[in-house]
Amino acid sequence: MLVDPFGRSIEYVRLSVTDRCDLRCTYCMPEGFQGFEEPGHWLNFAEIERLIGAFGRLGVKRVRMTGGEPLLRRNLPQLAARLSALPGIEDLSLSTNATQLARHAQALKDAGVSRLNVSLDSLRPERVAQINGRDVFSRIMAGLEAAHRVGFERIKLNMVAMAGVNDDEIDAMVEFAMRGHYILRLIETMPMGDTGRASSFLDLQPVKARLAEKYGLVEASLAGGGPARYLGSPDGRFNIGFITPLSQHFCGTCNRVRVAVDGTLYLCLGQDDKAELGPLLRAGASDAEIEQAILNAVARKPERHEFREAPQKLVRFMSMTGG
Ligand code: 5AD
Ligand code: SF4
Repeated sequence: MLVDPFGRSIEYVRLSVTDRCDLRCTYCMPEGFQGFEEPGHWLNFAEIERLIGAFGRLGVKRVRMTGGEPLLRRNLPQLAARLSALPGIEDLSLSTNATQLARHAQALKDAGVSRLNVSLDSLRPERVAQINGRDVFSRIMAGLEAAHRVGFERIKLNMVAMAGVNDDEIDAMVEFAMRGHYILRLIETMPMGDTGRASSFLDLQPVKARLAEKYGLVEASLAGGGPARYLGSPDGRFNIGFITPLSQHFCGTCNRVRVAVDGTLYLCLGQDDKAELGPLLRAGASDAEIEQAILNAVARKPERHEFREAPQKLVRFMSMTGG
């Protein structure tokens, strides 16, 4: 099984199925960005299935498809069906910006996708255009409606909260989430790439205290094993998560690794440590060799990110490894 040098069990893989995106969020991918992976290097579905199969045999139980924007990968629901059928994989989820979700929601549901995370930074169309780089608010709303219609429940809304940019909308977002039965998660910007470093950081600790007071929320724990810390209503019907890599990091309980579209295994969101599994897959490695390469890599998982101590360190944008 996969246990790293710090005693953490790795049971979760975040799989980037493309590094392309139809948006240009200010904190993520810069306008005019050209450094995409060549299509010839993308793992094909058979290679992805083999790799995730190996993770499944090593004890990974959960897989989340991310990007870039995963719905830009052609036939994604077909891949989802193959992954959700793999032995050991108990939970397959998807992170999306929802611009294309209306079209794909039913197929994703049918393919066994259990849960959705949707990025939503603002409820004002003109502000979405500004923050996310394209005028897509109405498409995101249509995507959310379609997701509800086909039966996705407890959809998570991820809001990157930025001082002076959208922090005046946090309460409106809380109320939107309460009405729509979403789980809202507020996220601190991480200094990934120049874009991440340039976005205006908002410390979420005071926000958390204020929202607890205003909406009568208490500390809550939500199954899922992710990094968010939650507040909840006393009746348990509403939750807000706080993803606070800077103000209160959560590396001690990290249970995950990340696979990029070309099969690069990244051991930490905030570090460059990696293993190139793509060439191995293409060189005809056996299942045992693939499993050994994963074990060797996990043995090198860094203890923690250094977003605070060394914010200049990471040149990768979030779109390259998935959030
Ligand atoms: N800091 C924090 N979150 C980010 N995301 C992208 N870039 C950053 C960053 N620099 C988030 C997106 C989305 C998820 C995929 O990652 O908003 O919710
Ligand atoms: Fe695309 Fe997500 Fe990056 Fe925004 S944060 S540019 S939606 S990959």
